[in-house]
Order: sequence, then C-alpha cells, then structure tokens
Amino acid sequence: MLVYKTKVDLVNRINNLMQPDFSLGFVPTMGALHQGHLSLVKSALSNNNFVVVSIFVNPTQFNSTSDLSKYPRSLAQDIKILETVSKDKILIYAPEIEDLYGSKVKSESFNFRELESTMEGNSRPGHFDGVGTIVKRLLQIVNPNTAYFGEKDFQQLLIIKKMVEAEGLQVKIIGCPTEREPNGLAMSSRNSRLSPEEYHESAMIYEILKTVKQKLNSDGIPSIYDWVLKRFNNNPLFELDYFQISDIESLVPVKEKLPNKKYRAFIAAYIGGVRLIDNIDLN
Ligand code: PAF
Repeated sequence: MLVYKTKVDLVNRINNLMQPDFSLGFVPTMGALHQGHLSLVKSALSNNNFVVVSIFVNPTQFNSTSDLSKYPRSLAQDIKILETVSKDKILIYAPEIEDLYGSKVKSESFNFRELESTMEGNSRPGHFDGVGTIVKRLLQIVNPNTAYFGEKDFQQLLIIKKMVEAEGLQVKIIGCPTEREPNGLAMSSRNSRLSPEEYHESAMIYEILKTVKQKLNSDGIPSIYDWVLKRFNNNPLFELDYFQISDIESLVPVKEKLPNKKYRAFIAAYIGGVRLIDNIDLN
C-alpha cells in the first residue's frame, strides 16, 4: 500500500483517480489504529470509491507535552491493519509536521461558543482550536465528499460540524457509533497504555453510563450526579475529571429533565494517568 508523505503527492494521486461519479471518503486519525478506526474506514469504503486515511499526531490539540510524547505511534503496524481492510482502495496520508504547519506550529482561533466552554473544552484549554485547525487543513487538502468521525468524541463531532458550516466547506460529516472492547470500554488508542488491572477496572465507565440511562427514567438529575460521584469516590484507581448530562445539541449541562428535550451523559476520568472519555445517548 502506498503511503503519501506530502500533500502535493496525495493531491496528485487523488486528481489522477477522478472520474465521473467519483466519490472520496476521508477518515482522519492520529494513528495507533484499532477496531474503532477500522469501523470508520469500513463505513467510508462502503459508501465511496476510494478512502483517504490520514495518520498524524497533531501537536496543537495536546495541552500537555507529556500526553503528546506518550501518545502511541505505530505507522508500520497501522499500514498492516489497513491492508486487512483493502489493499487498493485506501490512500494513506502520513505527513511530517512541516507539510501541514510549515514553520509555524500554531492553532487558528475559532469561536465554537457554548460547544467549547464545557467538558473537554474546559479541561483541555486550546484543544478544540487545535482540532479545528488540523481538521480544516486536512479537509481542504483531501477535499472529500464525506468525512467520518467516531461518536466516542461526541463533543469533537459537534465542533467539527460547526466548523465545517462556519467555513463553508463542501463536505458531509458523518458520526459513527462507538466501538467497544469485550468489557465495554470504549475503544481508544490510549487503551494500549492501561495495565491489565486498569483495563479490567475501566469497564466501570460504561457500566455507570448504562445505569445512568436506566436511572433517568425514575430519578432526578441531582441524585444521579450524587450516585456517579460516589461510584468514582469508592474506586481509588480512578480520578473523575467530569460527569455531565447535557442537551444533545448545545451540550449545555441540564439540571432537570424537560419534555421534548434530548440528552447525552458524558464521563472523563483518569486511571493510572491515562485519560479515558465515553458517553451515552439517553433517549
Ligand atoms: O479524533 C482524533 O483522532 C483527532 O482529534 C483528529 C480528528 C484526527 C484530529 O487530529
């Protein structure tokens, strides 16, 4: 499988593939690919003639240098994994930093309003400017018909949809369901950093989210928050960053259930220094 290291080579290849009715899918990733990424690639392949998969650990979306340096990198393995899905319909774009940022490794400043002033935006200042910057650049280079993102990063998905609309980019953004490990843990490249004990304990996150969904039928929101905080306080391996029940469109936290409103519950927690996030649709 060919790996394109520069945008010029990638765009030349895409231009050579163009024919009437040609349709291009795009799956942006930071590598360390797992089944979650592959499900995005498979969705993209089933709806397009060719799919570009970018593999680039984007420095501007990390607000901790140690998180950036610990982020797993495995390009050779990633290529092998992608070859199990298709050997001739996937173009891999794995550039160096200069190809995307030139000499200025700096984020553009966006205004995502209430979508960014909560959860990941609160905990990781500047993170969504970094995500918006790189996704905008990648979409401008690849110019796909459709781009695919996982719902595990639900806040990111809404922010990217907002950025695409604000920038007038001609691409359809599709959110795909979260893929899970056998114990229910949401698949993430960071899971490879968990010890066997931490992996085992991490099942608690999705168990809590599923129970929250049941409890919403009978309990008030404040008592659900109390229950979740107690569950985390009782497990010394975890440090909870946030638990939040939010409106599904604005992501504004909700204090009471209202008719005709849709909600989602979100958790971010550290275990052994590894940051895990997950969410569930409550409707
Ligand atoms: O979700 C990710 O892996 C990253 O945030 C993305 C969308 C590839 C941008 O770097």
